[in-house]
Amino acid sequence: MKQKIIDYLNDIQAFSTDNSESIEAFRIKYLGSKGIIKELFADFKQVEPALKKEIGQSLNKLRNTATDKINELKENLETVGSEKNIYGDLTRPGEQIELGSRHPISIVKNQIIDVFSRIGFTVSEGPEIEDDWHNFTALNLPEYHPARDMQDTFFIEKDPDMLLRTHTSSVQVRYMENNKPPIRTISPGRVFRNEDISARAHCIFHQIEGLYIDTDVSFADLKQTLLYFTKEMFGKSKIRLRPSYFPFTEPSAEVDIYWGLETETDYRITKGTGWLEIMGCGMVDPNVLKNANIDPEVYTGYAFGMGIERIAMLLYQIPDIRMFYENDIRFLEQFKSVM
Ligand code: DAH
Repeated sequence: MKQKIIDYLNDIQAFSTDNSESIEAFRIKYLGSKGIIKELFADFKQVEPALKKEIGQSLNKLRNTATDKINELKENLETVGSEKNIYGDLTRPGEQIELGSRHPISIVKNQIIDVFSRIGFTVSEGPEIEDDWHNFTALNLPEYHPARDMQDTFFIEKDPDMLLRTHTSSVQVRYMENNKPPIRTISPGRVFRNEDISARAHCIFHQIEGLYIDTDVSFADLKQTLLYFTKEMFGKSKIRLRPSYFPFTEPSAEVDIYWGLETETDYRITKGTGWLEIMGCGMVDPNVLKNANIDPEVYTGYAFGMGIERIAMLLYQIPDIRMFYENDIRFLEQFKSVM
């Protein structure tokens, strides 16, 4: 019996687990109502009186060791468990951090800025709330000029007229007032028009205005710049200029790019012609230069203006302009890979 107790003692001391079921099995094995220690205590009755003291002591020691062992294992289990709650499985891969994305309008705006900054254009901005002079009068659109009706205006105040700018051409005037030629600048920004909202038109949208003023700037310079832009921006190298009218340029033109007729979408967006209109342009009207204190006898220049939404719709095949303003995450998420 003495040897048995020593063997059990060694067994108990050597036992280890981090599993609550094994601890329970171990408890039943030694301390259960039919367990080893109960049996040993039963056998103890038959022990010779001379050995009773010694064996009784080692039996007690065995029982205490088993009880302590179980308590110790349980305690370990609890602390390991609580660490798990705090840290989880430290070998697990980390939580994925959701990446945001730029808005398609910003992506396209930055691309356009990038293309023009490579040929020396700086970026300039002006206020969205504008006065009549910078939005209309200085741009050769005096009061009662019929072309004012081309752009339905949100007026904010009367006398003096304050309004939400209808185009970024207002920044041309501000830039010329504050800078001497040579001038090479593009002006991106938000513009506002009192128009019914539809798939193709919105009351808020974005434009980029371009302005180049120096001595001897010609229409050929304008055309070459536009060709460079369409090549860089769309990878298309065929453009055409159609005569048009804008009060602030003379002559004026509208720029079409040859988009092609390869896919069904090409047919749809070009209405079967292969050509797409992308902007307005022209040589800055001498009156506009004069209004901004630049001598039209010395300087000439060209200007152009384009809608950013329109370009983004072309590049990303977006069918409805309203999608830009709905902030639908399913739409925006598609631009994650383009920065
Ligand atoms: N401001 C014109 C618009 O909003 C666009 C435009 C046309 C700008 C011709 C220009 C230009 O600078 O030369 O429709």
